Amino acid sequence: MSQQNGSKTIMLVAGARPNFMKIAPVQKALDRAGHRTVLVHTGQHYDDKMSASFFRDLDIKPPDHNLGVGSATHAVQTARVMEAFEPVLLDLRPDWVMVPGDVNSTLACALVCVKLKEKTGTRLAHLEAGLRSNDWRMPEEVNRVLADRCSDLLLIPSWDALPNLDREGIARDKVAFVGNVMIDTLLDRLPTARALNLGGQMGLTHGDYVVATLHRPSNVDDPTALETCLRGLGAIAAKRPVVIALHPRTAKQAQAFGLADLLEPLRVTEPLGYIEMLSLVDGAAVVVTDSGGVQEETTALGVPCVTLREQTERPVTVTEGTNRLAPWPLTPDGIYSTYAAATAQGRVGVGAKSPDGWDGRAAERAVEALSR
Ligand code: UD1
Repeated sequence: MSQQNGSKTIMLVAGARPNFMKIAPVQKALDRAGHRTVLVHTGQHYDDKMSASFFRDLDIKPPDHNLGVGSATHAVQTARVMEAFEPVLLDLRPDWVMVPGDVNSTLACALVCVKLKEKTGTRLAHLEAGLRSNDWRMPEEVNRVLADRCSDLLLIPSWDALPNLDREGIARDKVAFVGNVMIDTLLDRLPTARALNLGGQMGLTHGDYVVATLHRPSNVDDPTALETCLRGLGAIAAKRPVVIALHPRTAKQAQAFGLADLLEPLRVTEPLGYIEMLSLVDGAAVVVTDSGGVQEETTALGVPCVTLREQTERPVTVTEGTNRLAPWPLTPDGIYSTYAAATAQGRVGVGAKSPDGWDGRAAERAVEALSR
């Protein structure tokens, strides 16, 4: 589908909340470079707060195709995306498909793309390639490793991804360092988020409250694990207000396990839109999270972060940034003492601890890599 002037057709895939802030700057950079973009939304996330609000907040052009797969078991969700994506790919035969991140939609579309490559000639680029938690129990780890294996071009967000790909025998000439596209979005939207001052609107004092997010299956799908996390947050809430933006999965599980009373010391909100969340995190003393993206966003903002995970696929946020892992296995005391250490570290300001390539120009470098 290449046009004669060197412009290409690039199909961008997005399915779940953490994908949207990654494709937003790439869509814009591709437009600026004169390429044709086609956006496929798989529908893995579908609530307004989990999906449509990001399109509004980030000025993403509406999807050209919505596959509408919704929630299901991993196998069913992955299979539905594959079934629905195949005819779209066969119809359009773009020069490139770009899949971001590590959600089920990422792997499903990567598999379809590689299986049809002989027929379509379409090449596959993985945006945010090379991250590894080395924990094969995590669905995202399976998705990342396999998406990388299927890809013709691996766009890495930080240099620590390179040895991971070397170990898996991936040829260096398929790998391009582009930096972190999520931080392009963050830097672009920060002035708007600051103007919003959501913390102030909620009656919180700038630099003197905690923001929490919790949704990882290992933390919320087991009653003991969820209780531990909520008791740890409760201990912090005895010192400082804790705002938790509750993921639908976590809300459902807290009810199902009879743990809803442990949410009472916390200020519970629905999932927040992108600008709202950025506004709140930017003003926080400390963030406590099990999200991958939030570890990166806090590092870019210079806000201390406590991560409730056994390991992180984003070690650069610990070695260079503002992140620290709570001791594993998690305990309420361990969560609290890591929070206390993070408080002592203090806020350092935007960019003070940003790794190489987290500079707002990663999407431009991604487009250059695709054009080469
Ligand atoms: C997915 C990603 C995870 C990412 C997270 C961000 C995978 C394997 N996991 O996990 O990496 O960090 O998104 O949110 O792809 N639900 C709603 N509304 C929605 C979406 C989901 O209510 O718009 C509820 C449903 O009950 C659903 C549950 O959340 O069953 C889980 O959704 P799912 O997409 O399966 O996984 P996430 O936990 O969101």
